[in-house]
Amino acid sequence: MDSSGKLEQRPAWTRERISAALGESLVRLIATIAKHAHAENAAIYLAGGVVRDLVLQRENTDLDFVLEGDAIAFANKLARIYGGETERHIPFGTAKWKLDSAAINNLSLGSGAIPAQIDFATARTEEYLAPAALPVVEPGLIAQDLLRRDFTVNALALRIEAESCPWDMLNPGKGYSDILGKKIRVLHDRSFIDDPTRMFRAFRFASRFGFAIESGTAEILREAIPVIQRLSGERIRHELDLILREEHPERIIADLSALDIFAQIHAAFRISARSAEQFQRLREHMPKLRGNADETARLGWHLLFSGIAEDDALLICARLGLTGELSSSIAGFARLLEKLGWLGAPASKASAITRFLDGISATALRAALICNIDKHSAKERLELYLADWRHRRSAIDGNELIRAGLAPGPIYREILDKLRDAWIDGEIESQDQEHELFLKLVKEAQAWYRG
Ligand code: CTP
Repeated sequence: MDSSGKLEQRPAWTRERISAALGESLVRLIATIAKHAHAENAAIYLAGGVVRDLVLQRENTDLDFVLEGDAIAFANKLARIYGGETERHIPFGTAKWKLDSAAINNLSLGSGAIPAQIDFATARTEEYLAPAALPVVEPGLIAQDLLRRDFTVNALALRIEAESCPWDMLNPGKGYSDILGKKIRVLHDRSFIDDPTRMFRAFRFASRFGFAIESGTAEILREAIPVIQRLSGERIRHELDLILREEHPERIIADLSALDIFAQIHAAFRISARSAEQFQRLREHMPKLRGNADETARLGWHLLFSGIAEDDALLICARLGLTGELSSSIAGFARLLEKLGWLGAPASKASAITRFLDGISATALRAALICNIDKHSAKERLELYLADWRHRRSAIDGNELIRAGLAPGPIYREILDKLRDAWIDGEIESQDQEHELFLKLVKEAQAWYRG
């Protein structure tokens, strides 16, 4: 809203222009949705990131609609008419409409790309009762909804008319000129205190678009940094996960690290001085991950812990509420990095290395191999483990130990492990040699049992 309280209108957006950016199928989908909203006398807007990205001419098919009306009832109605399901968040007045193939078919949109889900929100005002807590929300008008948001560049909306175009752009926070001026600017001074996740978002957007954080915004951001301690682990984890999915996470990580933001999450959370190089190596490896964003993010999670001792890594994982599986994978990664010297030392036996690496997840091994290991000998050992040692098994199994007359017990595992070790260390190279060793070990065990 400008100083006179009127919505500032930006150059109108023609159908051709929007269609060129989003594709004709998406424009048809938007118009169809708007037709239903208007039938209920509810004004409907596309808002936030997709509008920002239209201005920036960046691809974005994440449609976020804001309704001056009941968004949950509206999304339910669309699902009833066209199919698909809704996921509702009643306290926030929001709903996700998940499109299935039947819904896409019924919408008759042509062959263009259609998102798997569409977000609807009731235009709202927010009140933050405590720093870093989730807000209490009330229905409001679109301008209020835009002005409660994180940054001016995200406080843009297009008012969608079903039958007519161009669509008007609402720009109450003057985000349009901030996009042109490449600035990340908050809409009000308490923004980071109310919602400290916005600090992570500020650096994420700045890096993604090559924008600068405007000086006043940078100042209030610095003052709000300690409030990060009050954020739930889950909310921080979500932000870090989004950062790890960006094209250049290392820039954002460096910016956050320079302001000691990781230390606010946990005192032991220190980013390695070589982090940028590690993420660069991960990026070079990415073609091999074939666009698997989840796997890229999982590898990135490990890199965040380069140089952190295992015990500390586990404490940080607990603070962030990472899953047990990811936490133990990261712990294994930390353990591995601490043992790289031993891994590459000539005296370290292949069997001992194998036993050690057997306790470390494939993702942790992969992350270390791609990004952290420089020493040739350590790399070579890890590659040998992956290609060969880890697959080695003795041809002899428990049944043969029973046939040899040995009483079952932990000794079985010991003998089978020793046979595997002997294969890995090259002490045996044939079935005959293995059998010979097997008989020797059984004999020793029997002698031990006899006392
Ligand atoms: N938003 C906010 N404060 C937050 C998170 C979100 O004000 N802590 C607002 C922003 O206006 C944002 C919108 O909610 O544009 C939707 O959030 P999200 O989908 O996270 O933002 P996008 O801008 O779409 O981000 P991205 O491009 O990364 O998908």
